[in-house]
Amino acid sequence: MPMRNPIIVALDVPTAEAALKLVEQLTPVSGGFKIGSELFTCAGPDIVRRIRDTGAAVFLDLKFHDIPNTVAKAVAAAVRLDVQMLTIHTSGGLEMMRAAEASAQQTAKAAGRAAPLMLGVTVLTSFNGSTLAEIGCEPNVVTQVERLARLAVKAGLRGLVCSPLEISELRKILPANVQLVTPGIRTGAEKADDQKRTLTPREAIADGANWLVIGRPIYAAENPRAAAEKILESLK
Ligand code: C5P
Repeated sequence: MPMRNPIIVALDVPTAEAALKLVEQLTPVSGGFKIGSELFTCAGPDIVRRIRDTGAAVFLDLKFHDIPNTVAKAVAAAVRLDVQMLTIHTSGGLEMMRAAEASAQQTAKAAGRAAPLMLGVTVLTSFNGSTLAEIGCEPNVVTQVERLARLAVKAGLRGLVCSPLEISELRKILPANVQLVTPGIRTGAEKADDQKRTLTPREAIADGANWLVIGRPIYAAENPRAAAEKILESLK
C-alpha cells in the first residue's frame, strides 16, 4: 500500500472544487481520501482521476452490491481508475465477492499495477436487531457481522470495513493479515452528530484497526489541516 499514515479523510462534499481544496490542504497530513456516493454521483470518475493526479491515494467507497458479473465489471472500471481501496457488500454473497476479487486481480495485472485492497462491508452501522429482522436476517448484529466477515475471508477478501466497537471481536476471529478500516472515529472535541458508537483514533488503532476513516472531525473543523495534524499527533 502506498498510503503513508492511517488517516483516510472522507470527502463528503458535493463538488469537485470543495474536494480538491481539501485534498490540497490535507495531502501532507493524510494517508488518502475517501470518495463516497455523494461526491462520485456529483463529480463522476473525473474527480477520482484529478485526485490521483495529485499523487494522493483514493478509497472509492461505492459499496457495490449486484449480480457477480455486474460487480466484476464495476470493480474492473474502478481498478482502471487506479484506486487503492474500494468497497463491496459482503451480503452480495460468496460468488459475488469472489468475482469482485478476481476482477480486481486480473484488471490490475493487465494494467501492470498492484490490485487495490477490496474491503467488505458487513452490517451497516445504521442497522440494529430489528432492522436486520425486518429484512429477514439473523437479528443478532454481532452474529451477523461475524458470519459475513468469515464469508468475506473465505471469498479471498483481504479487508473489511467495521464499526469501532467491532474491531476487537473481529480481531479474535479473523486471520491477522485481514486489514480493518473503521469509520465512527471521534476525538471528543467535535459537536455531537449521528455517529453513536465511536472510539478515539488512538483507541481504534490500539484495538487493531489498520485505517481510520474520518470525515466531519476534519473537514468540518474550522481549520481542517490543524485538526488532522492533531489527530496524527495523538497517534504517536
Ligand atoms: O463524518 P464522519 O467521520 O462520521 O464520516 C464517516 C464516513 O464513513 C462517512 O463517509 C460515512 O459514510 C462512512 N461510514 C460510516 N459508517 C459506516 C460505514 C461508512 O460512517 N458504517
